[in-house]
Amino acid sequence: MRPDDVEVAERLSSEGFYEVDLRLTRRGDPDPEPRSAERGRLWVDRTQHYLRTDPGGCWVAEIDGEAIGFATSFTRELMWVLATYVVKPGLQGQGIGRVLLAAALQHGRGCLRGMLSASSDGRAVRRYRAAGFSLHPQMHLAGTVDRSAIPVVEKVRDGTAADFELMDSIDRRVRGAAHGPDHGWLLSAFRLVVSDTSTGSGYAFVAADGTPMLLAATNRRTATRLLWECLAATDGRGYVPHVTAANEWAIDVGLAARLELHQSGYLGLRNMRPPAPYLHHGSLL
Ligand SMILES: CC(C)(COP(=O)(O)OP(=O)(O)OC[C@H]1O[C@@H](n2cnc3c(N)ncnc32)[C@H](O)[C@@H]1OP(=O)(O)O)[C@@H](O)C(=O)NCCC(=O)NCCS
Repeated sequence: MRPDDVEVAERLSSEGFYEVDLRLTRRGDPDPEPRSAERGRLWVDRTQHYLRTDPGGCWVAEIDGEAIGFATSFTRELMWVLATYVVKPGLQGQGIGRVLLAAALQHGRGCLRGMLSASSDGRAVRRYRAAGFSLHPQMHLAGTVDRSAIPVVEKVRDGTAADFELMDSIDRRVRGAAHGPDHGWLLSAFRLVVSDTSTGSGYAFVAADGTPMLLAATNRRTATRLLWECLAATDGRGYVPHVTAANEWAIDVGLAARLELHQSGYLGLRNMRPPAPYLHHGSLL
C-alpha cells in the first residue's frame, strides 16, 4: 500500500463494513449507518500513521490496476497487529482475502504475539482461525448512563506526551508490547487521562462522547477509576466497546451505570491470553 491508496482503501472499508452491518443486523438492533465523513477522515489519518510507522505490513489487492481489497498491519516490539482487512463486496469468498492476509502475516513472522479485533463476518472468522488465532468473544455495553451512579473520581489527571514512557511500561506489563508511536497518534485524536499512584498505574484515551478508545492499567481498582472518568464525560448515551470475559471489572462498571451488555465479534489472539485490566482499541489493539 502507498499513501495515495489510502483514500480508495477508506471507501472500500466503509462499503465493506456497512455491508456486513446490514447483513448481520438482528431484529431490534438499531439500523446500521454508513461511516460519517468525520470518521472517514479519522480512518484515513490513522491508516497514514500505519504507513509512516511500518509500511511493510500494509497490502493492496488489485485487478487491472483497480484496488479491490487490502490488509493493514504493523508490528510494535514483538507484537503483530492486524488493523483492518476488507475485500470488495461481490468479490469476497474467492480467495483474495487469503492471499492478502498471508502477505500481512508474513510481515509479522518475527513476532511472538498477534492481536486483531474480528467482526462476526463468517469469512473473516474462518480466515483468522485458519491463521491460528484463538477467538475470544467480545462484549460491549451501551445505553443511557445513570448519572446518579457515577462516583466521585479521584486520582485521575489529564495526561500529556510526558506520560508515554509510563504508558509503554503499562502496555508491556498488560499486553506484552508497548504501543510506542501509537500513543502520539491517539493523543492527536482523543483526550488522555492518567492515574499513577503508589499502588497502581493506568491510562485511557477517551473520545469526546466519553467512549473509552483504549484503556490499560496495572490493577482493577485503577482501571475502574479510569472507566468511571470516561463515563462521567458522556452526555446521556454511554458506550463501552471491546470487553472480554477477562475484564469483568468493566462489565461491573457498565452495569453499575445501568448500561446493557451485548456481544459483538471476537478478540483474536496468538500466543497470548486476553489482556486485563485492558479495553483494546479496535485497530491499534
Ligand atoms: C474477511 C474478508 C476480508 C476475507 O476476504 P475473502 O476474499 O472473502 O476471503 P477468502 O475468499 O480468501 O476466504 C473466505 C473463506 O470463507 C469461506 N466462505 C465463503 N463464503 C462464506 C460465507 N457466506 N460464510 C462463511 N464462510 C464463507 C470461503 O470458502 C473461505 O474459506 P476456505 O478458504 O476455508 O474455503 C472479506 O470477506 C470481507 O471483506 N468481509 C467483510 C469485512 C470484514 O468483516 N472484514 C474483517 C474485519 S475484522
